[in-house]
Amino acid sequence: MMKVSIILWLIISVVCPAVYMHYVFIYGTLKKGQSNHSIIKNTTNGQAEFLARARTVERYPLVIATKNNYPFLLNVPGMGQRVHGEIYCVDQKMLDFLDEFEACPELYQRTTVQVEVQDGDGEGANTLKPGRFMDAFVYSTTRYEPEWLQKPTYENYDTNGDHGLQYHEDTSPE
Ligand SMILES: *[C@@H]1O[C@H](CO)[C@@H](O)[C@H](O)[C@H]1NC(C)=O
Ligand SMILES: *[C@@H]1O[C@H](CO)[C@@H](O)[C@H](O)[C@H]1NC(C)=O
Repeated sequence: MMKVSIILWLIISVVCPAVYMHYVFIYGTLKKGQSNHSIIKNTTNGQAEFLARARTVERYPLVIATKNNYPFLLNVPGMGQRVHGEIYCVDQKMLDFLDEFEACPELYQRTTVQVEVQDGDGEGANTLKPGRFMDAFVYSTTRYEPEWLQKPTYENYDTNGDHGLQYHEDTSPE
């Protein structure tokens, strides 16, 4: 019985080396240098360790949509571009916080994506080797308006990019 659960634990690919830790691939406002990065650094929300930059193995449309200019990875593999982002190892508390922050599952859904590690200069012992393929959680969406599929796609999201669609929280009615 004991052996079976250990083997099960080993094959759960989105679990980090430490028990109850998870890999998360982020591509939007939570990345380094973007407006919400402080959320992932804030230990009140849980633990998160930056591991590496990575890009999706498949192409996905990364578009900017809604009046708040949210970045959305549309869950439509094979369209768009291989999307660049960052891999973090997070604990259950941070994962729960991120689910709430991402309005999961109403706005984004947490699914699994295959990513390729680009550089392994992470912060700790969990550093990943460049070229490694691995699975991580990602907040993407299937709840998009049909016309979002016609929007420009981005390879590497930057709120201050030359698209001019800076992310902001606007709570005023439409
Ligand atoms: C995320 O960034 C937006 C835009 O800068 C800001 O208005 C919002 O307060 C941030 N959210 C959190 C939880 O820090
Ligand atoms: C960390 O998050 C908590 C709760 O979400 C918040 O009250 C606090 O102001 C945040 N601290 C920083 C430095 O952003």
